[in-house]
Amino acid sequence: MHIREYTEDDLDAVFRLRKLAFNASERPERLVTPGRHGLVAEIDGKVAGVLGIGEYAQFYGGAAVPMGGIGGVAVDGATRGRGVATALLDAALPVMREHGQPVSVLYATVPTLYRSRGWERAGLFEWVEVPMDRVLAAPKPAERIPSRPADESDLTALRDCYLEVARTIDGMADRRPPRIDVAKVLEMDVVSVLPGPNGLRGYLTAQREPGGGDMGRLKVLDLIGVDVEAQLNLLASLKSWAGTLDAIDLQITDPATLALLGATPMRYSVSTSTWMLRVVDLPAAVAARGWPRLADAAVDVEIIDEHAPWHAGNQRIVVEDGEVRVEPGGTGAVRLHARALGPWFTGFQNTHALRRAGLLEGDPADAVVLDQLVGASGVPRLADFF
Ligand SMILES: CC(C)(COP(=O)(O)OP(=O)(O)OC[C@H]1O[C@@H](n2cnc3c(N)ncnc32)[C@H](O)[C@@H]1OP(=O)(O)O)[C@@H](O)C(=O)NCCC(=O)NCCS
Repeated sequence: MHIREYTEDDLDAVFRLRKLAFNASERPERLVTPGRHGLVAEIDGKVAGVLGIGEYAQFYGGAAVPMGGIGGVAVDGATRGRGVATALLDAALPVMREHGQPVSVLYATVPTLYRSRGWERAGLFEWVEVPMDRVLAAPKPAERIPSRPADESDLTALRDCYLEVARTIDGMADRRPPRIDVAKVLEMDVVSVLPGPNGLRGYLTAQREPGGGDMGRLKVLDLIGVDVEAQLNLLASLKSWAGTLDAIDLQITDPATLALLGATPMRYSVSTSTWMLRVVDLPAAVAARGWPRLADAAVDVEIIDEHAPWHAGNQRIVVEDGEVRVEPGGTGAVRLHARALGPWFTGFQNTHALRRAGLLEGDPADAVVLDQLVGASGVPRLADFF
C-alpha cells in the first residue's frame, strides 16, 4: 500500500469512492481547494482509499487552536477490512503535525476505527426541536431592537459578532477563511441582523427545508446575541412563524440562549452528534490553548501513544507565571493513554471519568492538577459540521 497527498488528478477516483461511501451525487469541480487537502491510499497503483483534512481552528480558553478536521474517509468496497483506513489515519498524524495542527477533530460513523488511533469523544454538536408553544412562551424583550436583512457590507461585523460569543465557548470553530467562506451566509433564506452602536448586537441565520409536514421546517443555524436583549429579540422574531410551523429547529451555537433564556420544558428533543478529538502534538496543543490563571504548579505525566511517538513518554506539564507549557522529563506519575488526551484537553471528561474508563492511572492527588488546568467551563461544543 502506498499513501500520498492527493492531487487534482485524483478527482475522479476520489469522487468514485465518496459516491460509493456517502451516496455523494455532485461531482465537485476541484479536489484540492484552499483550506483543504488530503491523502489517498493506492493498492497496485489504484486509489483504494481517501481521507480529507480541513484547516479549522477551535477556541479553547479563548485562544484559537489550529485543528485538522478529518472528513470524507472512504475505502473501496472491495478492499475494506484490510487496514486501508487505519493506514490513512496513521499517515494523517505526521501530516497534520507538519501543517501546524496540534489537534484533530472528526465526526465518526465508526468510532472503533478512530479510537484505535487515539481519537475520543470530546464534545457535542446539538440541535433542539423547540415546539411552537415554547417559542411563543419565550420571555418578551424589554427593549425592541429593530432588525434588518444583512448585506455584503455586514460580513465582517457578522463574523466579529459570532467570534465575540464563540471565543467564550470551548470547542467552537473560529470560522476562518479559506476553509469557511463567510460570504456563503448571505445565501441563506433568513439572515437578519441587529445593528448596535459598535457593529452588530446580534444576528440570526435560518434555512427553510422540506420535512415535518406540508409546511416544511425552519432550521435556525445561528442565533447569536451579545447581550440578553439581543438574544430575546431574536427569540421573539421566531414567534412570527407560529402560523405556519409547529416547531422550530435550533442549532445550539450559544448554549446560554435556550438554557438560560428559552422557555424549554422539562423534557425536549435534542439531536446530538458527538465529535471526537485527538491531541496530535501535546506540547504544541498546550502552547496554543488559553488557560485559566493559576498559581504555579506542575504535573508529571507519562503519555502512552505509539502512533504519535514525538510526544510519547514522560512529560511535565508546568504552570509558571501564568503560562502553561510541556517539558520533556519528570517521573511519569500520571499515566495518560492517547485517547485520554482529547477529552481532557477539551474539558469534556475529568480525570475521574478517564480513570474509570481505563484511560488514566496514577495517584489522584497528582491528577487533580489536570482538572484544575482545564477548569469547569461548560460542555465543549461545535456548531459546524464537516
Ligand atoms: C469505515 C471505512 C472507512 C473503514 O475502512 P477500512 O479500510 O475497511 O478500515 P480498516 O480495515 O482500517 O478497519 C480498522 C478497524 O475499524 C473497524 N471498522 C471498520 N469498518 C467498520 C464498520 N463499518 N463498523 C464497525 N467497525 C468498523 C474494525 O473494527 C477494524 O478493526 P479490526 O481490524 O480489528 O477488525 C470503510 O468501511 C468505508 O469506506 N465505509 C463507508 C464510509 C464511512 O463510513 N466512512 C467513515 C466516515 S467517518
